[in-house]
Amino acid sequence: MNLKLKCYLCGTEINYSPSRIFCPRCLQPGLVSYSDLKIKTIKENFSLSLEKFLEFLPLDKVRPELSLAEGQTPLLPLNKLDKNNLLYGKLEISNPTLSFKDRGSVVVTHKALELGLKRVGTVSTGNMASSTVAYAARAGLEAILLFKKGSSAGAINYSAAFDPLIIEIEGDYGQLFYQSYELGDKYGIYFANSVDPLRIEGYKLTSFEICCQLGQAPEFVYVPVSSGGHLIGLYKGFMEFKQAGLIKALPVFIGVQAKACPPIVKAFEEDKEKVSKIEPGETIAHSISNPSPPAGNLILKLIRKNQGFLTSVSDQEMLEAQKLLATTEGIFVQPESAASLAAYLKLKDRFTGISVLILTGHGLKASEQPSRDQKRHYQVTLNELPEIFKQIYE
Ligand SMILES: Cc1ncc(COP(=O)(O)O)c(C=O)c1O
Ligand SMILES: [Zn+2]
Repeated sequence: MNLKLKCYLCGTEINYSPSRIFCPRCLQPGLVSYSDLKIKTIKENFSLSLEKFLEFLPLDKVRPELSLAEGQTPLLPLNKLDKNNLLYGKLEISNPTLSFKDRGSVVVTHKALELGLKRVGTVSTGNMASSTVAYAARAGLEAILLFKKGSSAGAINYSAAFDPLIIEIEGDYGQLFYQSYELGDKYGIYFANSVDPLRIEGYKLTSFEICCQLGQAPEFVYVPVSSGGHLIGLYKGFMEFKQAGLIKALPVFIGVQAKACPPIVKAFEEDKEKVSKIEPGETIAHSISNPSPPAGNLILKLIRKNQGFLTSVSDQEMLEAQKLLATTEGIFVQPESAASLAAYLKLKDRFTGISVLILTGHGLKASEQPSRDQKRHYQVTLNELPEIFKQIYE
């Protein structure tokens, strides 16, 4: 399939190759554009999301053997958090490597094989690396991971299980991101980074699933934002479902960034058209704190067109939301994902209606684990055990 990308800022068309995905004028990532807008259909009798929504994907065919059964994640009502029964969590933590990234990785390995490439890589702080290596292993491709020095040991250990080439690099993360495309071009590596157009095509399926699960589009979608690839994919999904006549209107998007490093929120609040790189502060939310997001300007445009909203939340708010989600609804997410709930709690009276929190990554993937209630945590010998129960329950 000969793919064309389109810049959604200026309309420029780009002939796709894995290392040429940016608009030469705006420097924003191009997105897959479909020339035929014929009504597309959902293939209901398939269980894999990829197969079900194949008509919306830029793939010649689906190869089920490349899948790890990503997608088809639950949409759970969060009725303890909202007594009006209007709040849902989309459990992207149920994906095979515990984050939404798997939806993109499976599309990328399909495309890498279609293009005859033997290597895939990524520049990552965590979730994308573990997802990329798992799917590379499944497809029989070599994986190359470029980590920013200081990335969490947990993320590196998880990825190391799959025996990829791992390089930890000291230096500017933004420059590393762009340099990876030059290296990829030279050495035949498909560097599918956060805003890769094929990854973004995979993220669309989350929106399709939400519409099918709810029987309609929600009114509000809350999503944590770093590079912006995920939000763009979700947005594109609802847009294409609307174009296909399957929903009437798009939901309003609420993008959430870490307060210590919110470059897109800053530009939004200052009414700027372009996002400027900012000096990042300290935060536990490593995977939503990109100081120079490669799709920042595009996010600004989409959010304004959509009458959406961008906001930031502090580490404290994320940790409180993480705890609240675990203790009230039984769902354990990483703080970056709890950012969606933290933003919802602040904005729910302003944006009332059916709301979906995209729960992007599992709590076990976080570099720091939440605090424990020390009053409920004992270390005793077996002999002391009856006494402890006596103290607590008598
Ligand atoms: C758990 C989690 N949430 C949100 C994001 C942000 O996604 P994006 O960079 O596509 O905006 C990431 C990115 O790594 C992530 O790992
Ligand atoms: Zn452009």
